[in-house]
Amino acid sequence: MYTDLVNKHFGNMKRQLIEKELSEFTANNQECVVLDVGAGKGANFAYLPPNASVICIEPDPLMRQALQTNVLGYPRVKLEKVIGGFAEDMSEIDSGSVDVVIATHVLCSVDDIKQTLKEIKRVLRKGGKYIYMEHVAARESNWLHYLQCILSPVWRWVLICRLDVDARQHIEGAGFASQKDEYFIVGQLEPIFSMFTIIWSHVTRPHLFGVAIK
Ligand SMILES: C[S@@+](CC[C@H](N)C(=O)[O-])C[C@H]1O[C@@H](n2cnc3c(N)ncnc32)[C@H](O)[C@@H]1O
Repeated sequence: MYTDLVNKHFGNMKRQLIEKELSEFTANNQECVVLDVGAGKGANFAYLPPNASVICIEPDPLMRQALQTNVLGYPRVKLEKVIGGFAEDMSEIDSGSVDVVIATHVLCSVDDIKQTLKEIKRVLRKGGKYIYMEHVAARESNWLHYLQCILSPVWRWVLICRLDVDARQHIEGAGFASQKDEYFIVGQLEPIFSMFTIIWSHVTRPHLFGVAIK
């Protein structure tokens, strides 16, 4: 449900970002190796070009099972490998072997953001791209920011997700050669009927979309 809701809302933005950043490969019909970190049940399959060889890393066995089923709905996706593991240790993937890393709504979930970014940078080849889309801490010191800070510890504990991640600062700290992203507050997600979903749809509105190049 989460993936469907998120893709319904962000699908066009994801498609545009991924299409733009992979255009150098699609224009030349050149093979590229794409790593989807924290791939969930394959939320990004719909946006990948046919010339991509895809590796997914996902720690949750139920998500991996759903991913293996969902990929059948995308015959053009060449799924090379699904790794049951964590982004903090991607030792199954050689350094400099990946053209593009995609991670959407993942930095909020990992235990160690710094180590995750170090691994993302390690596996990318020089000039390789890290495409990200994250819900992040509100930049403004307003009620939303305070609500995120208050809720984040319990959110982390119950939903395994942090609300107060400053993804831009973390990515800047990882030392990519360049980084270009956009921060914005997305509109309310859906017609919302429960107290939880009302809160969820508010506290996850600040987003960061972008690309960092190694
Ligand atoms: C909010 S979901 C996002 C899934 C998908 N990327 C999307 O855009 O819908 C976060 C995903 O990260 C995975 N995850 C959690 N901790 C992780 C870690 N340390 N390394 C890699 N993935 C992790 C979760 O199992 C889950 O599938």
